[in-house]
Amino acid sequence: MRFFIDTANLEQIKEAQELGVLDGVTTNPSLMAKEGIKGDAAINEHYKKICDIVDGDVSAEVFGTEYDDMIRQGEELAALHPQITIKLPCTKDGIRAVKYFSEKGVKTNCTLVFTVGQALLAAKAGATYVSPFVGRLDDISSNGVALIKEIVDVFNYYGYQTQVLAASIRHTQHIIDCMKAGADVATCPLKAILGLLNHPLTDKGVEIFVADAKKMEG
Ligand code: E4P
Repeated sequence: MRFFIDTANLEQIKEAQELGVLDGVTTNPSLMAKEGIKGDAAINEHYKKICDIVDGDVSAEVFGTEYDDMIRQGEELAALHPQITIKLPCTKDGIRAVKYFSEKGVKTNCTLVFTVGQALLAAKAGATYVSPFVGRLDDISSNGVALIKEIVDVFNYYGYQTQVLAASIRHTQHIIDCMKAGADVATCPLKAILGLLNHPLTDKGVEIFVADAKKMEG
């Protein structure tokens, strides 16, 4: 399973990249706004900075909801850098735009997916990634991880090439559960990725080895 980081924060992206396990980045308008970025020029510049830090795909989301706006913004974003993946909502216009960009060979991430039916439409339109939102489903007493498994099974059964990108990951256990469900990618906050390292026996073991190593100092 590949790891994307789910943030527009450059320091966190650098920290994950330095860890050596980062395969890409996802952003959305909320994450970009959180960084205080304003205006098209600053937005575009920010995406270029992200692409300079990581080697993999960087999802940049269109802000428009109408097909023509999605195409115009998507074209502009795709021209910024070869690593840019155009992120489009799973709406009627969004699916049409996924089809448009996939036919042009531009990578797409179909976002805001909450059902297997939406994922199927995204795959049929040729999306590179489909993003089911695990945490937001859990928030409403639904089962986000079960949706990941359902989509993975359907895509495998029919041989769709679209990759399942588990999004809206809130904590470390979500990462483990999505991995077990067969997600191709999980996009996660840095804290959830670093949480994978946590184990008291690892900390205790390091402590003991450091103490014993000191006994051997000449
Ligand atoms: C990433 O592609 C999604 O936009 C993001 O994971 C949504 O996360 P949230 O539900 O925590 O806002």
